[in-house]
Amino acid sequence: MSAQQHAAVPAVSLSWEDGAIVTLDQRALPFEHRRLRMTEVDHVVDAIATLAVRGAPAIGLAGALGVALSAYAHGDGDTLDEAKVRADAERLAAARPTAVNLAWGVGRALTRLHEGADAVLAEGLDMLAEDVAVNTAMVRRAADLVESLAPGRPLRLLTHCNTGRLATAAVGTALGTIIELARRGRVADVLVDETRPLLQGARLTAWELGEADVPYRVCVDSAAAAAMSQGLVDCVLVGADRIAANGDTANKVGTYGLAVAAARHGIPFIVVAPASTWDARLAHGSQIVIEERSPLEVVEFAGVPTAPEGAAAFNPAFDVTPHELINAVVTEKAVFDGGRAAQRSCGTPAERIA
Ligand code: MRU
Repeated sequence: MSAQQHAAVPAVSLSWEDGAIVTLDQRALPFEHRRLRMTEVDHVVDAIATLAVRGAPAIGLAGALGVALSAYAHGDGDTLDEAKVRADAERLAAARPTAVNLAWGVGRALTRLHEGADAVLAEGLDMLAEDVAVNTAMVRRAADLVESLAPGRPLRLLTHCNTGRLATAAVGTALGTIIELARRGRVADVLVDETRPLLQGARLTAWELGEADVPYRVCVDSAAAAAMSQGLVDCVLVGADRIAANGDTANKVGTYGLAVAAARHGIPFIVVAPASTWDARLAHGSQIVIEERSPLEVVEFAGVPTAPEGAAAFNPAFDVTPHELINAVVTEKAVFDGGRAAQRSCGTPAERIA
């Protein structure tokens, strides 16, 4: 299949069907469209840990629906073994540490536990619907902001990782914004960082852009700074996994380097993420737990060694971009001044979290 020929992605990337959580296995995309049907909490924990389901909002939603699976498994209609569900909920929330959305989604589903399994499921389904509404509002707001930065001409954009509908219930965040800008006729080219080591950019973002008929080029992560120096990038748009109270933002590893390069070249650097990504408990980004993944992801590629046998590896899945390198954070509620070259005054950190 050529890069530009794609089958349609379901409009909603996660659903509940006959007692199961159903999604596309993102490990196999874009080459294989493997439907994943999860009926047990262990399946959901494994799918989140191995990135079959990935992207901060999507893992939060899967976590919430995972609590519903547990509630049905440990209830008989009238009674429910709350301790067992809470133990499952802890395992779900611990499947990945960095995105705040996972613990948030699991915690929100648990708030209905005393009402029984049907209520937990209803909460999870509400969250799915809310995610679509939130993302729709957010990408419009973010697209308005980007348009206002360079009125009148089609833009050259750069993005990292996958922040599209696959990473959410639907629509996406930063990638949703790019697709919204394309709908408005404002996109000339999108540079898609391949996003080593698991290629969420090359595999997933390229696939979503091709499906939406948006012109794109995949580049190796290390070409991004050179593209900026050559004047090929008007704006960088990324998502977020957790945002501290001061605006420091954790996102896929490599995001920090992009922000440094964007600041060096005076290119706007914009984070698009739902308000639920803010973690008011953390004063600054150094308090965010960064997931470290298997060295094999770095020293092998698709099972083929790419480094000497026994080579050690440094494999953080995320990094933290200090707020002073971010021009703006766009949520469904507002545009907040990220700290860099304050282009507009968008509220204090306390207001961001309110
Ligand atoms: O390890 P991943 O693929 O789950 O990392 C995802 C990202 O870093 C995304 O940019 C982030 O979760 C935002 S998704 C809308």
